[in-house]
Amino acid sequence: MTRPDNHVIVLFGASGDLARRKLLPGLYHLAAAGLLPDGYRIVGSSRAKSALSDDAFRALAHDAVTTFGRSEPSGPAWQSFADSLSYGAADAQDPGPLLAAIRAAEDSLGGRPSRLFHLAIPPPAFASTIGMLGDTNLAENGKVIVEKPFGTDLASAQALNETIHAVFDESRVFRIDHFLGKESVDNILAFRFANGLFEPIWNRDHISYVQIDVPETLGLEGRAHFYEGTGAFRDMIVTHLIQVLGIVAMEPPVSLAAQPLQDEKAKVFEALRPIDPGQVVRGQYEGYRDEAGVAPDSQTETFTALRLEVDNWRWAGVPFHLRSGKNLAQGREVITLGLREPPLRMFRTDPAQQDAYQGNKIVIDFKDPGWIAATFLAKEPGPTMRLGPATMTFRYGGSFCQKHGLEGYERLILDAMLGDRSLFTGSDGIEHIWAASALLLENPPPLKPYTPGSWGPEPAIDELVAPHQWYLPDANKDRP
Ligand code: BG6
Repeated sequence: MTRPDNHVIVLFGASGDLARRKLLPGLYHLAAAGLLPDGYRIVGSSRAKSALSDDAFRALAHDAVTTFGRSEPSGPAWQSFADSLSYGAADAQDPGPLLAAIRAAEDSLGGRPSRLFHLAIPPPAFASTIGMLGDTNLAENGKVIVEKPFGTDLASAQALNETIHAVFDESRVFRIDHFLGKESVDNILAFRFANGLFEPIWNRDHISYVQIDVPETLGLEGRAHFYEGTGAFRDMIVTHLIQVLGIVAMEPPVSLAAQPLQDEKAKVFEALRPIDPGQVVRGQYEGYRDEAGVAPDSQTETFTALRLEVDNWRWAGVPFHLRSGKNLAQGREVITLGLREPPLRMFRTDPAQQDAYQGNKIVIDFKDPGWIAATFLAKEPGPTMRLGPATMTFRYGGSFCQKHGLEGYERLILDAMLGDRSLFTGSDGIEHIWAASALLLENPPPLKPYTPGSWGPEPAIDELVAPHQWYLPDANKDRP
């Protein structure tokens, strides 16, 4: 496979939560797997007040890889990775230390390596950092990865797009959503468009509802500062869940190149009916306001469930149920497509199984390593024609060699180095999503409390999707 040309990767927010949890372990995994360029350097950066020495940055990276990584930080692979790390702080008024660190990194590689800037910083800092990259000419020969959430509403997303485009042309902008880098999300394209089996039923004639469900058991994890100003809708729904919806709902692209893929997703987002606040449940878990860094009267939602409509030929009238929240009963990432009933009921079903069975479904679990199941009815053995629920399952874990699997961030950082924007988001797509969210952002429904460890505020969440039901294969029992 193609390897990227030589790179200096600049990690803004290098000591933050995202860098520790995902980016440093991910970069190390890429290095250990031999997927980084022959010549690379990683320069960590932050504001001067939280600057680190090179050695302290190496120690932080070692700790991050030990705690969150998949590859052991030891031996020659670690040594060479650690040698590639350096640090340079940058304030808007004084980018000097960063400039010096980048210059040293480039000199050590020789030639004219590409630059990749990863903005793993809070959204309010995006504009000033991009301005600084423009003012210092660092943006020259560079690409930029911009983290989510991209803006907080339509106006701020448009303003951010303008700020970015003043410095980087669109072909060098990588708006990242790590869910799109997950193997099982990417596999939806293969599942739909490489097979004759599923795509013919992938429409309103056969599908009665689509559910995209990402409950999390995680709480705040010390991120109150970020989360208070963000909330579940901006942290998860407008970003990850609606992006996944884009892949599930899109028309076949003319090719898998970046532009056709982004165009098809953007058309889905353009067809989103403006979100009706009456079709949204906003929740906050009990005890949230007692967390360190949270305002005692905080109105931030830690849970959102909503019903969306995609007003186009394929999906008109099919509800899309989306749910995500913190401190819920399970951590899952599941898409369910509920199929319509056949026109005639000729069979008796087992009354004891009636509740467990709610019609044929295609279930895509995209939490790594992921699986796909189709549930259907089958004849129970015996002298009578009585039916019971059955499942056909494909498991990623047991079906392919996992050795080459990459996590979302790993795949996307590699793609960004290669200049491949297929799995990134275009500016128009994001603006359509914010436009559809405007009514809700202006009139958010009141918060409903929920008990930590539950599925969210009841009975509101059940009423939201009636006559359908939330479907989650039981993690311990039914999970294939
Ligand atoms: C991040 C959100 O983007 O995604 C977090 O900011 C969330 O709040 C996380 O926990 C979930 O991603 P993953 O891949 O760890 O399931």
